[in-house]
Amino acid sequence: MRILITGGTGLIGRRLCAFLTAQGHTLTVLSRQHSSVVKVLCGADVIPMCGLDEYRADTVFDAVINLAGEPIADRRWTASRQKILRNSRIGLTTALLRRIADAHHKPAVLLSGSAIGYYGDHGDDWQDESSSAGQDFGALLCVEWEGAALPAAAMGIRLCLLRTGLVLDAAGGVLQKMRLPFQLGLGMQIGDGRQWMSWIHIDDYIALLYSLLMDASAAGRFNMVAPNPVQNAGWTAALAHQLHRTAWLKMPAAVLRLMLGERALLLTGGQRVRPAQALARGFAFRYPELAAALDHLWQVPD
Ligand SMILES: NC(=O)c1ccc[n+]([C@@H]2O[C@H](COP(=O)([O-])OP(=O)(O)OC[C@H]3O[C@@H](n4cnc5c(N)ncnc54)[C@H](OP(=O)(O)O)[C@@H]3O)[C@@H](O)[C@H]2O)c1
Repeated sequence: MRILITGGTGLIGRRLCAFLTAQGHTLTVLSRQHSSVVKVLCGADVIPMCGLDEYRADTVFDAVINLAGEPIADRRWTASRQKILRNSRIGLTTALLRRIADAHHKPAVLLSGSAIGYYGDHGDDWQDESSSAGQDFGALLCVEWEGAALPAAAMGIRLCLLRTGLVLDAAGGVLQKMRLPFQLGLGMQIGDGRQWMSWIHIDDYIALLYSLLMDASAAGRFNMVAPNPVQNAGWTAALAHQLHRTAWLKMPAAVLRLMLGERALLLTGGQRVRPAQALARGFAFRYPELAAALDHLWQVPD
């Protein structure tokens, strides 16, 4: 298939590019980076696209995977930062959909990004794809991000919305950030440790995404998470255990709120998310339990 990927240079995107190339697909990666950088990050065979103006009416893609988005956790959510976060997702998705609308040959399928932040913070209640959206900034961002992709369905394009959870990969993201503090014995529980963390091993993420890409019957919203989320206390204990350390420190939620502002909700709140659609489709997770996922990603010798 000829596939356009946005966000192909990111943590998930790089893994996806390697996987899809190995499967024999032809990839075009939309990126703000120089073409040579895109080829280093995504593979020598990918075709870099420097801007959406290169997606012309006669350009042919069979599928589009839309993952681009400014990192949400990196900086305080000031008004200007919120604008950047919105533009990089809603603005880009809207512009992408305009290009798709103008294309003579439309892609058969669009997989478009979202996040489990869609649900907001619901304490111990399970969330599946039919649960309602939250009201905080992150939730509203996801609602609009998904909304920007919806015109695809009206164009007869199969649309899968990827409500992504915490993606576990040793090479980046949350695990890479946490490894050193935990190795130094500075890993800590956040607040009362009861908030839920819905995670997924990168290999399962790629396999699930690929099954959605290839199966013409797949459409709708998909929680991209493993079936066994953990509470923050369990997460903290599992990471410490994997690295043969203890983690007895606790970060009070109030201190985090002071340090991070509204963004603290990403750590002090959480969602207990079930991948109901993936399970209903019979998707078999290779890493349904956190301990096995960590064991695979952080193979730490005794
Ligand atoms: N990783 C997770 O745990 C997780 C969890 C939930 C949701 N998600 C979502 O899934 C998507 C992929 O995640 P990831 O971890 O792979 O993200 P990532 O490593 O931060 O990469 C994000 C990608 O988005 C592009 N991008 C960033 N800022 C942009 C901007 N202002 N305008 C246009 N493009 C921009 C970048 O492409 P260029 O620099 O090449 O332009 C980059 O390749 C993101 O949208 C993220 O919000 C990820």
